[in-house]
Amino acid sequence: MDIRGTDTPLLDWSGDAIALGFFENETDITGELSQLDQKMGGTITELIEEAEFEGKSGSSAVTRIGGNSPIRKLIIIGLGKGDELSLDTLRLGAAVVARLGKKEKVQTLGIHFPVVNDDAGKTIAAIAEGMILSLHQDNRFKSEPEDKPSKLETVDILGVGEQTEAIEQAQTVCSGVILARELVAAPANTVNPVTFAETAQTLAQDYGLDIEILEQQDCEQRGMGAFLGVAQASDLPPKFIHLTYKPTGTPKRKLAIVGKSLTFDSGGLNLKGSGSGIETMKMDMGGGAATLGAAKVIGQLKPDVEVHFICAATENMISGKAMHPGDILTASNGKTIEVNNTDAEGRLTLADGLVFAEQLEVDAIVDLATLTGACIVALGDNISGLWSTDETLTEEIKTASETAGEKFWVMPMEEKYFEGLKSPIADMKNTGPRAGGSITAALFLKQFIKETPWAHLDIAGPVWADKENGVNNAGATGFPVRTLVNWVLG
Ligand code: BES
Ligand code: MN
Ligand code: ZN
Repeated sequence: MDIRGTDTPLLDWSGDAIALGFFENETDITGELSQLDQKMGGTITELIEEAEFEGKSGSSAVTRIGGNSPIRKLIIIGLGKGDELSLDTLRLGAAVVARLGKKEKVQTLGIHFPVVNDDAGKTIAAIAEGMILSLHQDNRFKSEPEDKPSKLETVDILGVGEQTEAIEQAQTVCSGVILARELVAAPANTVNPVTFAETAQTLAQDYGLDIEILEQQDCEQRGMGAFLGVAQASDLPPKFIHLTYKPTGTPKRKLAIVGKSLTFDSGGLNLKGSGSGIETMKMDMGGGAATLGAAKVIGQLKPDVEVHFICAATENMISGKAMHPGDILTASNGKTIEVNNTDAEGRLTLADGLVFAEQLEVDAIVDLATLTGACIVALGDNISGLWSTDETLTEEIKTASETAGEKFWVMPMEEKYFEGLKSPIADMKNTGPRAGGSITAALFLKQFIKETPWAHLDIAGPVWADKENGVNNAGATGFPVRTLVNWVLG
């Protein structure tokens, strides 16, 4: 699919289908549109009337254009209220257009959408992202794809100029989102700690990133007892992955991204019971997948920021070698942890990941993790929790996420709740009471950061979509690659 920006006037464009965007309660046909309507024998007015189309967000209608019109089909798309127009409105509108275009077997498509904040580059990038991400299909595990691929060959986005660079950037960002989706969607007998590390190796080769993989002995030498405790029941070796992107000149900033990378979470001896969603726990490397997705994008966009991508990859299994509930582990910063629940394993792997990140003397650290079911209870499937020790970093993430169209909600770092993690025998327990479970998880992680500005993203809900939702199809979403990339680009 070739996406292009063009200044071809609406009245001169020809192709299989034209998609016109309308704001809510602004469906009067005036100016250029009224000339187009005349050219199409009044089809636009007719369709709006017949479909009782009001321009509501997510609404759409399609019809054939009779006569000898140079455009065969008309698609009208609701963009919601005009004063609420955002990049995400267009990203979602583009996803609706893409799905309709596919259904209607359109090959050449024109899109006529408004420009957001006079920024043609960001506007076209959001439209391109909406098209590409909503059309992405993962047929790797089907012997025959059920769903026919889209026939879209060219998409002309009208009235924005060529914007080649913005389109290329959007395509690059989508390649990272799609990598994250494919890693998350792949089952645990395909993506395991070894193959996950191989993916990181390939990224390093393809995009000239530095890579260091700490093997089990290296982790032992560094005293990563928390990570290794989780890894000890797996038949597969743990892989502590450290990818680095270094710009050519002096970096403006140094950042670290740490992603939870459990290629499967059985719960360990506190085994997840039936009905616990154990069969979905291949997604427990969603943080690591988005970290690698972001690395893929950053390696191509080459900003003047140094970025460290850290994934402590393993699987949480059971065997005679497994951690016993009650075992005490020592993390690489010397703190001791009583593992009162082996199913709170993500924070154990992240503990050593965060200590490692801080030793790199970066300016800020962001971790992202499918950490707690409690965060899903609090915020649902669409919104990630955001905890931070630093207001500037919080604002940076919020701004990055708004442009990306990915949702975060700032959660409290309520120190008092640390009482729930007090252990009579070790420095802390890994699990607190049920109430406020996502907050105690964040407080646990905070024990492994000394002074570097740090943010924690609990992405347990948004990494997976049960059904089609915005630019996401059912399945892995690639959340929050776009936010991470925007954050790094600044
Ligand atoms: N990976 C899970 C969290 C999770 C749950 C992610 C549902 C995605 C969907 C995590 O390792 C876990 O098991 N958390 C426990 C923590 C509890 C034992 C304190 C949970 O949320 O139940
Ligand atoms: Mn778990
Ligand atoms: Zn987990």
